[in-house]
Amino acid sequence: MNNYHFLLVSLPHQSHINPTFRLATKLTRAGARVTLATTINGLKTLPSVPGLSYHFFSDGGAAGKPNYLQKIKLAGSSNLKELLVTKAKEGQTVDFLIYGICLPWVAEVARELQVPSALFFIQSAASFSVVYHLFKSDGGVGNSNIDPSGTVKIPGLPLLRYSEVPSFLLTTHALAVVFQEHIEILEKDPDSFILINSFNALEEDSIEAIPDHINIYTVGPLVSGDTEEPFVSDTFQDSDRETYLRWLDSKPEKSVVYVSFGSLLKLQRKQKEEIFQGLIELGYPFLWVIRNNGENDEEEVMRYTAEGGGLIVRWCSQVAVLNHVAIGCFVTHCGWNSTLESVVGGVPMVGCPQNADQKMNAKMVEEVWGNGVKAVEDGEGVVGREEMKRCLAVVMGGGEINRKCEKLKSMAMEATAEEGSSHRNLHRFFETLKRVS
Ligand code: UDX
Repeated sequence: MNNYHFLLVSLPHQSHINPTFRLATKLTRAGARVTLATTINGLKTLPSVPGLSYHFFSDGGAAGKPNYLQKIKLAGSSNLKELLVTKAKEGQTVDFLIYGICLPWVAEVARELQVPSALFFIQSAASFSVVYHLFKSDGGVGNSNIDPSGTVKIPGLPLLRYSEVPSFLLTTHALAVVFQEHIEILEKDPDSFILINSFNALEEDSIEAIPDHINIYTVGPLVSGDTEEPFVSDTFQDSDRETYLRWLDSKPEKSVVYVSFGSLLKLQRKQKEEIFQGLIELGYPFLWVIRNNGENDEEEVMRYTAEGGGLIVRWCSQVAVLNHVAIGCFVTHCGWNSTLESVVGGVPMVGCPQNADQKMNAKMVEEVWGNGVKAVEDGEGVVGREEMKRCLAVVMGGGEINRKCEKLKSMAMEATAEEGSSHRNLHRFFETLKRVS
């Protein structure tokens, strides 16, 4: 891929920028030049990687507002068009554009300037398969046909209950039209591509359920398991790193429960209390990320620290933590990045999914991969302390779950190794680019 110049466009949110940055570094390692574009002030840390440069554009001043994506589209399309023209004049022509799941308008920019493009799907192949089978023009299930009291059959997946269908695809969610648009783009243009942060052996059935004329390339897991991997973030600082790593170093192998709910979720106070009680009643040491959401929770955090046998931090480098020998399990919301990072770390999961694709991911963990359990909520959507204790006892008990985790971990390593499926797919993708660019 020497001399090829890729422009990667991502939202600045952690779950988007993290895998996009990882993809960018993978491309540079294959010899390409990469420009990573995101919104102004979108990154607090800008790791320096040979071959990688950054570009920032305005988000239209609408961060956090309901019309956010529309404003980004308006501000971003003209800016990116200008960027492509300028780069061409400077002799650094962009050969290929790769855009994130909330930014289908980048495909329009690409078409207008006749640059080939691909969607980078930061969630699972199963999630993409649901999008495809709901919205394909020929015989798609249609999200308005999903019965809230019934189940949905998506090829390659166990039957999904309404609550297990990724919530952003339901008619009630503003993002559903964005995902529908992706399928329209893919169907219209036979030279459009999708890179997915997953690997064949993990999601074989979902991948097989996507027909050949939809050009998917699974190139993951993009997380390497390298604990020194540069840390890229929109909002968060890894300022407690020395403290939590030293603390983990002092704990026996597989003894610590790691608790973290991604970069967006705010847990109800009652839910936090139930998790805490479950943890202290069982007596496992725990490392818990309670993000600072401006909730005035200092007192609560101090009490958890004083009464429990644990360490609470506001953020951590999750990859470094999940690859530490002291970690025995991961209590997680099952966001796709967290799920993959846990697979790569060989760590069993207790899934406490809340929304988005999380319930489907947790279902796969428990029912298909067997590398964890899904906690059952009470009628108010809270996982109680007894249920938490049940789940922790299962995943901390070793045995079959640990064997499954080890197997998945080695499958992930095989996929990304020289001649592994994801490695080959990336090179297949490069060969296709040579044909279309
Ligand atoms: C969102 C959705 O909620 C999720 O369901 C979807 O699959 C992706 O988009 P998020 O909730 O942030 O993502 O979860 P996740 O996908 O797990 O991404 C969080 C990222 O933040 C991970 O890469 C994780 O390593 C990182 N993280 C989180 C840290 O590095 N440190 C922390 O303390 C917490």
